[in-house]
Amino acid sequence: MRTIVTLPGDGIGKIVLPESIKVLDAVGFETKYINGDIGWEFWQKEGNALPQRTIDLLTEHKLGLFGAITSKPKDAASRELDPALMEAGYVYFSPIVALRQHFDLDICIRPCKAFEGNPLNFIRRTSDGFEEPEVNTVIFRQNTEGLYSGVEWTDPPAEVRAAFNTHPKMKKFADVPNEDLAISTRIVTRNGCHRISKKAFEYANKFGYKSVTVCEKPNVLRETSGMMVEEARKVAKDYPNIELWETNIDAQMMWLTKNPEIYGVIVSENMFGDIVSDGFAGLVGGLGFACSANIGREVAVFEPTHGSAPKYEKLDPPIVNPIAMFLSACMMLDHIGETEKAAIIKNAISEIIKEGKVRTYDMMKLKGGPDVFEKGACTTYEMTEAVIGKL
Ligand code: NAI
Ligand code: MG
Repeated sequence: MRTIVTLPGDGIGKIVLPESIKVLDAVGFETKYINGDIGWEFWQKEGNALPQRTIDLLTEHKLGLFGAITSKPKDAASRELDPALMEAGYVYFSPIVALRQHFDLDICIRPCKAFEGNPLNFIRRTSDGFEEPEVNTVIFRQNTEGLYSGVEWTDPPAEVRAAFNTHPKMKKFADVPNEDLAISTRIVTRNGCHRISKKAFEYANKFGYKSVTVCEKPNVLRETSGMMVEEARKVAKDYPNIELWETNIDAQMMWLTKNPEIYGVIVSENMFGDIVSDGFAGLVGGLGFACSANIGREVAVFEPTHGSAPKYEKLDPPIVNPIAMFLSACMMLDHIGETEKAAIIKNAISEIIKEGKVRTYDMMKLKGGPDVFEKGACTTYEMTEAVIGKL
């Protein structure tokens, strides 16, 4: 039997992940689960937020369902380390970023689909009233390269500065003292651009989307965006029934509220994909609804986009919306071919939202806190029960 590695992580990750297992059980999905240690607790106790044993589990079982982790800047992280480990030279790194890099999870998919009746859906003014665009956009974000490659310096080493100085455009910076110079690089590979474009078209083809938009900025970022667009055009030739659209990231964000409903699949480099996917997620309910998949050649990890929301972790009963986690679990089901079970869960969620009787605090636009229940919000558990009741 298949084994799925559950990685609850920190804060509300520990709340929403078990709720998603209840839903998976209730839909009749049979599998084994094994817990993987990840997150702040393991940083503090062991000096490693992503212990090797967790990497080993994912290497063996290939599928991870992840909640959320708490991440802090380096100095704050060092201060919270077990005193016994403080002199040992441990350096904090984000375990989810490390997972993506270790397993080369280069394909990030973030579907942003509006559920009918969700009070958080974007509405637009028309000449005589309002309308609610039917947003159904899936963002394919290159997850391992680009501006987030991590190749960057403040006060760059002499040989790096010398190499940069071979570029004529560096003349402008010739007089800047080294310690006043910071450089972050945007590195893309043809293979990376090709793979994300190919996956975007495959998905559009499989799920009936009529267009793939490559969202970049090739007029300015001639080399990196240029390569993305070039590869997208190559891949597009194999899919004559799907149109390739080309937009610039800045214009795309301007059009976000003008005509979001016309976009099907969007494909972008790492940072632009991060931006455009948050933009679209905001139109369909935000963090309580934003699910994602990180897929590599071997391993795949599914996670809600939200973080550990520490300010809500201790509320009992919990108030947070588990739907983003449920939708992430559905993406996992789709990934392993259990599309029918995924559809049943998604239908149940959409019925609950349409009925509008069971809503978490975010769906009621309340400020989070223990008093949201008296204002009509449901608990995290009640949302789970409602969804299970509709399966
Ligand atoms: P966050 O996503 O944890 O929370 C931001 C706000 O969004 C919350 O205060 C809450 O109002 C709302 N929210 C988040 N999830 C929700 C849910 N399921 N239902 C209802 N409302 C929800 O981001 P924040 O506060 O910036 O970061 C908290 C911690 O999480 C930090 O340590 C950060 O580094 C980490 N983080 C981890 C991520 C991951 O595990 N992939 C992603 C983003 C942040
Ligand atoms: Mg983001």
